[in-house]
This record gives sequence, C-alpha cells and structure tokens, in this order.
Amino acid sequence: MGEKMGNLRRTLMCGELRPEHQGKEVVLMGWVQKERNLGSIIFLDLRDTTGISQIVFDDTLSEELFSKAEKIRSEYVVAVKGNVRIRQSINKEIQTGEVEVLASELKILDESETPPIYIRDDDNVSETMRLKYRYLDLRKPSMQGKLKLRAKTAKVVRDFLSENYFIEVETPMLTKPTPEGARDYLVPSRVNPGEFYALPQSPQLMKQLLMVSGMDRYYQIVKCFRDEDLRANRQPEFTQIDIEMSFVDIEDIISINEKMLYRIFKELKGIEIQLPIQRLTYAESMERFGVDKPDLRFGFELVDVSELVRNSDFRVFSSAVENLGSVRGINVKGFAQDFTRKDISSLEEYVKTFGAKGLAWIKITEDGITSPISKFFGEDEFASLIQKMNGESGDLLLFVADKTPVVLDSLGNLRNEVAKKLKIIDPNELKLVWITEFPLFEFDEEENRYAAKHHPFTHPMDEDIDLLETNPEKVRAKAYDIVINGDEMGGGSIRINNSELQKRMFKALGFSEEEAIEKFGFLLEAFKYGTPPHGGIAYGFDRLIMLLSNSSNIRDVIAFPKTQSATCLMTEAPTSVTQSQLNEIHVKLDLQ
Ligand code: AMO
Ligand code: AMP
Repeated sequence: MGEKMGNLRRTLMCGELRPEHQGKEVVLMGWVQKERNLGSIIFLDLRDTTGISQIVFDDTLSEELFSKAEKIRSEYVVAVKGNVRIRQSINKEIQTGEVEVLASELKILDESETPPIYIRDDDNVSETMRLKYRYLDLRKPSMQGKLKLRAKTAKVVRDFLSENYFIEVETPMLTKPTPEGARDYLVPSRVNPGEFYALPQSPQLMKQLLMVSGMDRYYQIVKCFRDEDLRANRQPEFTQIDIEMSFVDIEDIISINEKMLYRIFKELKGIEIQLPIQRLTYAESMERFGVDKPDLRFGFELVDVSELVRNSDFRVFSSAVENLGSVRGINVKGFAQDFTRKDISSLEEYVKTFGAKGLAWIKITEDGITSPISKFFGEDEFASLIQKMNGESGDLLLFVADKTPVVLDSLGNLRNEVAKKLKIIDPNELKLVWITEFPLFEFDEEENRYAAKHHPFTHPMDEDIDLLETNPEKVRAKAYDIVINGDEMGGGSIRINNSELQKRMFKALGFSEEEAIEKFGFLLEAFKYGTPPHGGIAYGFDRLIMLLSNSSNIRDVIAFPKTQSATCLMTEAPTSVTQSQLNEIHVKLDLQ
C-alpha cells in the first residue's frame, strides 16, 4: 500500500537539479531507476520525464527513514525531500551529475512488482513485449523523447498555420466512405438498422466542403483510418496534417508548404533546408529512378538500353523489347568488389519479389569482365552495352528485361536495396523533392477500367483536359507529392470546382450519374452554390516524426500503436463482443 503525498509537493523536476541549488531544500518525485545499497549508504537514481537525479540516504538519518529506504526497489514511485549538495564523485554523463540530494523525508507513493521489461534505452527485448507493456516501454527516455518531439512538431505546425490565417476545424469521425482507395473501417448504426458509418480515410470531402463554406484556409491534425496491408511506415489509424486552401493553384500551395517545411526542419532539427525544393515530374522520376518516391541521396540511376538490345541474340532481352516491354539497368558504380555471386543471387531473389524473371549482370574488375550473359553477345554489341551504362573497372551492372512497369518497379526497389546493403546512405542527409504531374488515372486491371490515381476530385492539368475522353492515360493531374529521402511524406492536388468537368471526370472513371450522386451527391450539390478554386495537401504526421527522430519503425513514434496484423497487444483489441451487443446493432456473424 502506497503512502499519501501528505504535505509534500514537488519543487523541482529530476532533470533540473544543478549546482546552483546547492544548500537548498527540494522535493522530487518520480520512479526509481536504480538503487544501490552499500550497507551504511543507499543511493537512488530517481527518474521523471526530464531526467535523473541521485538521492542519498546515509546513517546520519533516522533509523526509520533509513530502513524505509532499504525497502525501495526499481520502479517504485517515491517522493523525496532533502538538501542539495555537491557530489563527491561527479558524473559528467548526465546533466544533474554534479549534485545529489541528501534525503530528509521519504514517501513510498507506490510499490512496483519487478517489471517484465527493463526501463532502459539499450534494452533489446522483443517488440511484442514492448507493445504488451507499452506503458512501461513509454517510461524509457528515448520513447518519451519521441512523444515530446511529436507534440513540439504539432505546435510548430499549428503556430505556422495559424500565423498564416489557417483555421483548425474538426471534422466527423462517423461519416460516409471517403474516396482514398483503401478499405474502410465500418461502424454499424444501432438506431438505423442495417446502416453503417465509415471512419474517415481522410477528411477529404469535409475539407472541400469547408472551402464551399468560405472558411478559406483550413487545417487539422487529424486521425485517419485505413484498412490496408501494413508495413514499416503504415498504420491502420494514423495522423495527418491536413490542409486545404481557396483561391489557389499549384504554385501557391507548394510555396506555403515549402515555408512550413522550412520552419519544421529549422525549429526541430536546426537545419535550414534549401528553398525552392527541387521538383521532378512523375515521368522523369519513373524514368530515372523507377519509382514515384525516389531517394535522391545516392545515384545508381536507371538507364534504358532497349534500343541497343532490340536485335540482340540474347532472347531474354530482345523479346522483352519485341513485346513492347523494355530492358533497363543500373550501374552500381565502384562497388563491383562488394558483391559476390551469392550476393548477386540474393539480389536476383529480391527483384523476383517484384515480378522480375531474373537479373542479368556484368561485373567489371581489373581482372576482366564476368557476366553470365556475355556469351549471348557479339564483342562490339557487348562493349556498346557497357558503354551505354557508363561501365568502367570497378562497376557492377544489373539489368532487368520485362514489361516496363515490372522493370521500373524491380530496378527502382533494387536501387534502394543495393544502397541499403552497401550502407552508403548518410542518415543525416536530407533530400526533399516534389513529384509533380502525376497521371490522373491508372488502369485497374482487376476491374478493367480507369481509376483515379489520387482521387476523383483531382483537377486535370489545363492543357490535358481535352484528352479526358480520347486519351485518358495521357492526362496529367494537378497533383503533387512531397518526398523526403525516398518516403512519401505528403500528397495533394488542386480540386475540380466545376460541375461540368466533374461530370466528365466521373464518366471517364466509368461512374454512372446515379452512382456519382449516390456516393458524392452531397458534394456535387454543394458545388452548385459557389465554389472557389481550391486545393490542398495532407502530410503523414507519423512519417514526419519518424524522419525527425530517425526512427525506422512507425510504431516507435505512436504512443499506442497497432501490430502488423492491426491488433493492440496491450488491450488485446480487437475482441469479440457479446451476443446482446451484436443484437443491438443488428449484426449477425458469419464466421467461416
Ligand atoms: P494520401 O492518401 O496521399 O492523401 O495521404 C496523405 C499522406 O498520409 C500518409 N499516409 C499514411 N501514414 C501512415 N499510415 C498509413 N496507412 C498512411 N496512409 C497515408 C502518407 C501520405 O502521403 N486526402 C488526401 C490529401 C489531399 O489530397 O489533400 C490524402 O489523404 O504520408
Ligand atoms: P539463363 O540463360 O536463363 O541462365 O539467363 C542468363 C541470365 O539472364 C541470368 O543471370 C538470369 O538471371 C538473367 N535473366 C533471365 N531472365 C531475365 C529477365 N527477364 N531480365 C533480366 N535478366 C534475366
């Protein structure tokens, strides 16, 4: 049973103790990080969110106080009153290391069982344990640091946006499906039998309606929900910095966002990013990097060698070109020696996960050229292939031949994989890039129709509007993503604010007018009453915090995250519910 605090009130945080407090009486409260009982003297390391202070109990104290101190164990919650004095042996490692508190009063506010995980940053316990005992994991200074950074970033964002006349508006969580393209989380309605709300995948429609409302500039730091396959940088519920503005075109949105990004990196990392941020069109990004979120911290750019090998005797190459695909390669410049045959085989296995059928390679070293494909080429032809790839002694050339999307996807990812394996990426380097001019549509093979690449309200580029009916795959969108170090940090677009154009868009997407009205009727209705030109963007807030805190896992920047299978190991959510709860919401289970 814990004692009451009584009259004791905290006067200082554990991390604040300094030599200037020498001779003063202080009251500290916190958790016991560590206790060392040396017989006639007991040391406690007392921890709170600001740091650690050393507390001393010695035999000048009353027997009652000393024997109470002897009972203390790790993670006990205690209040200590005492006098600050200079330590005999100074600890330069911690900021409070020059001083200690000689206790005169002690209250054990709560005891603790031996915790199942150590409260130490260097503890390498399994993530399962960390998530099950998340409240203990969050006692670690590194985890608290990440949550503090998260809060501070939110404040910098709020300050910046409100200085720029943005108004934070909350939008509903129980709503209609939003068009972001993932699966919805559905919530059954008790009072409307058989009907469901969807949790928002983003506040997309609401923020556009706020523009119709004349709010002019909106933002919100908001939870979004997407039932999709999870990865290292995806969670089923995550947070966006969501922004929408009226009377703007692309340049206006990019410009204010660059100022915000500048402010974020300046205030949180002390880094002045260079403005304007570099831009690449989608087409150029795909051509040079194989992906629409290129990591620009290293080279190894893709080279198209299709024309050169069109008539080659190596059928793998020539038939790919014949079948309207392509052959491309990357030059892993200067690193030939770092890859054994076995390493190259594992790269081959890696590209196969992206649908490639193989990985052809040429290794150029001082001892000569090794390659499993040289035998298929004439000498000159092989030399010009190497030349086209700018191959020199020390280089490793890697090629994939296939349908172009497979080639781009596998080489684009291989490029990242190779850089990661070589450990050549400087984690402190920052490369920001806007990707612009995305295609408006992408072809949905399963449904055999065009789908919106961003969402159906994205404005086509003005010069491409005439292609909507005749050549939809050629239409580029007024859409942009901000990519940092190869991660998609945010994305947005200028929206359609003209109902004629919106109708043409729905038609191109294969929606009948009835379908469009059923899904988005309220938005189309709203657009009849005076809609300003508008557009916006949303950032993945968790991803931004990952970047700012050098975390490789999105779960580390979220207080209570979900696992890869969307469960919470601490609360055990999701769980089954009682039959009467199901009856109330008119739901019958059909478990196969
Ligand atoms: P989009 O779908 O691109 O755009 O989402 C914006 C940003 O949100 C982040 N994000 C995620 N972060 C963690 N876990 C997830 N499951 C997840 N999904 C997305 C990404 C992404 O760039 N309404 C539009 C924005 C707009 O048009 O204004 C939207 O939601 O960093
Ligand atoms: P093979 O003659 O089938 O052993 O192929 C010779 C080399 O070409 C091997 O290194 C294969 O990995 C590679 N290869 C096979 N198919 C492809 C492809 N579609 N693209 C690139 N390389 C390939």
